[in-house]
Amino acid sequence: MGVVTTAKYIAPELLAAFGEQFPGIEFSMTVSNRGDIIRRIQDSEDDLYIMGQVPTDEVEVEATPFAWNPLTVMVQRGHPLTLLKKPVPLHAIAETSFLIREAGSGTRNAYLRLFSEKGLKLNVAMELSSNEAIKHAVASGLGISILSIHSLALEGTKGPVEILEVEDFPILRKWYLVHPRGKILSLTAQKFMEFTISQEQFITDRLVNLWPDLANYL
Ligand code: PGA
Repeated sequence: MGVVTTAKYIAPELLAAFGEQFPGIEFSMTVSNRGDIIRRIQDSEDDLYIMGQVPTDEVEVEATPFAWNPLTVMVQRGHPLTLLKKPVPLHAIAETSFLIREAGSGTRNAYLRLFSEKGLKLNVAMELSSNEAIKHAVASGLGISILSIHSLALEGTKGPVEILEVEDFPILRKWYLVHPRGKILSLTAQKFMEFTISQEQFITDRLVNLWPDLANYL
């Protein structure tokens, strides 16, 4: 499989649960940003992909949505922005030192689109090519950022990084199971697709458990 970096928070669990139902299968998973995953699809390197946005121009694919992948503004716990009236206006986010993902990141494309639609420009303090590096940089007070809620799956939302309620957020995205159009999938890949689609409610419940406010937006 090839998965975009936000999906690395869920793909191993899906593989583990699937492997329990079908013992003996060996998996290989490449984690990369959207740009790299599109190149892998073009070169037909993997059986299946998990992506946050279906590629339309670069390559012909078939895509099946299967779970929510909401993006939220994340700040260091107790950051001055948390003292503002909620929801915090978008321009306040644009004015604060921002930690941005690298070019080729689908997450970055999604939030840059929102800010540009609103006529705002982010105040970029640093570029980092990993969600985990961004999370640690946010926790260290180097700046704020926008990440998938799934990135807080292990530490939860009460840790050193907190989700800020901001206007126009969360950006509600979905994950898609993707493969090249016309590709005949192996039986294992077909079964994994069916299994993953069947987990949608479980993944939603887990997200709402992590951040109960999400229920107001779904
Ligand atoms: P990425 O993840 O930011 O690592 O490219 C892609 C996505 O969620 O669209």
